[in-house]
Amino acid sequence: MPAIVLLGAQWGDEGKGKATDQLGERLDYVVKFNGGNNAGHTVVVGGETYALHLLPSGILTPGVTPVIGNGVVVDLSVLFEEIDALEARGVDAGKLLVSSSAHLIPSYNRVLDRVTERFLGSRKIGTTGRGIGPTYADKMSRVGLRVEDVFDASILRQKVEAALDLKNQVLVKVYNRRAVEVDEVVDELLGYADRLRPMVADTGLLLHEALDRGETVLLEAGQATMLDVDHGTYPFVTSSSATAGGACTGSGIPPTRVSRVVAVVKAYTTRVGEGPFPTELSGPEGDALREAGAEFGTTTGRPRRCGWYDAPVARYAARVNGVTDFVLTKLDVLGGLERIPVCTGYEVEGRTLDELPATQTDLHHARPVLTELEGWEEDISGARTWEDLPPAAQRYVEALEEMSGARISVVGVGPGREESVVRHDLLG
Ligand code: IMP
Repeated sequence: MPAIVLLGAQWGDEGKGKATDQLGERLDYVVKFNGGNNAGHTVVVGGETYALHLLPSGILTPGVTPVIGNGVVVDLSVLFEEIDALEARGVDAGKLLVSSSAHLIPSYNRVLDRVTERFLGSRKIGTTGRGIGPTYADKMSRVGLRVEDVFDASILRQKVEAALDLKNQVLVKVYNRRAVEVDEVVDELLGYADRLRPMVADTGLLLHEALDRGETVLLEAGQATMLDVDHGTYPFVTSSSATAGGACTGSGIPPTRVSRVVAVVKAYTTRVGEGPFPTELSGPEGDALREAGAEFGTTTGRPRRCGWYDAPVARYAARVNGVTDFVLTKLDVLGGLERIPVCTGYEVEGRTLDELPATQTDLHHARPVLTELEGWEEDISGARTWEDLPPAAQRYVEALEEMSGARISVVGVGPGREESVVRHDLLG
């Protein structure tokens, strides 16, 4: 079986963790290929809720080998905290593999992320403050630290010294903070070396060999298409490649081995942090959606901004990623609404567009063109087959499918693993 990419079609928090968990036992490897502990997967298994930030959600499935790929940025303190927390609840994390080429988030980048946001004031991005942006910036500037460096103390020291030469100037002279000591950083990182060593591997090679043996590899994105550093609402994005192309660079698997691209999309839209969001609802309608969908961030606890389904965003995600299947999540949250507005295009300064505007200026000024679909009164959380869904809910799904550029293969009707309607097998 070739590789499958699973990613978010909107601004994150679409429910990717649940989708991975459902594929569960049929997967051999689950690879996280971008981002770091800015992600928040909430997975409900057997009534227990697990909030994962850094670890791939496949860690909860016995038999699956979870992999942190080369495209990820790793905060080692968080890595071991999450492993300890899972093991305390009886989950075995012993199979976890970490790419030797993944980058490390040193403590000074967490500090820089937060002070930079404060410095930006009203121009802030609304980051998670976990050091993600500064660490990817270091990677591109070639002053980053990689997992492999933890096993070579003298190289590690040279790299930390080189990075701090510049960063301490910025911390002290621009931000008025204390300088960071080289020893403090080196000692902390070396302290993890023994525990880390058995997990570290050439994960690109191992995945390649697994595919040659006919095993199934799921490449799981953190964040989502509209937060991708190239294809998202720049600069209000994360600093990594959260789209299908990033799945290849972030794992070492070539595009010719990817057979399916599954995009998870919510039946409405949410966004955390700053940046344009054409269908956003402020006021009581947005509050009602937030309450009904429990839309509060897994990583930071921040209330999510909420709005109606945006079909041009889904179509854009279908195009950028080559989506073969959508998983539509949280349909149950829309129950009880008489009419459900859906965005089919935008008005931008007198022009009507049916695709996402090509410039951020136009996106900022875009007003959604809404069409209203019929709602349903019934509680649909018990639906397990297509026929169990009320006709209006079926029509809502079909209308979205028509507008969104790929088939909707799974419909989520509640948070639990079993609370779904499967229309097409994602691995079939
Ligand atoms: P960063 O990834 O911490 O640099 O934050 C950049 C932007 O991405 C901010 O708007 C965050 O709120 C957003 N973001 C990062 N990770 C997630 C996620 O897992 N879900 C939703 N938004 C996210």
